[in-house]
Amino acid sequence: MIIVTVCVGSSCHLKGSERIVERLQQLIKERKLEDEIVLSGSFCCGKCNRTGVTIRVDDDEFIGITPEGFDAFFEQNIMSRMQ
Ligand code: FES
Repeated sequence: MIIVTVCVGSSCHLKGSERIVERLQQLIKERKLEDEIVLSGSFCCGKCNRTGVTIRVDDDEFIGITPEGFDAFFEQNIMSRMQ
């Protein structure tokens, strides 16, 4: 089980966290990963960045993820953890 936490604080919200959450939900549905990935939200994680959104995958934190770059991020940092 992988826990993906998307920051929905005001800075990340402005940089597209809502779109990222929607896309993630879509990918989970399309690939039937409902039992593998838990999606959660968090308030500001104190890592506001000039571009992009802060996302935590289990205990690893990534900053600056844009909605445009999210599909690549998903493959590299989430799908790669699947057993
Ligand atoms: S609002 Fe997301 S890290 Fe601050």
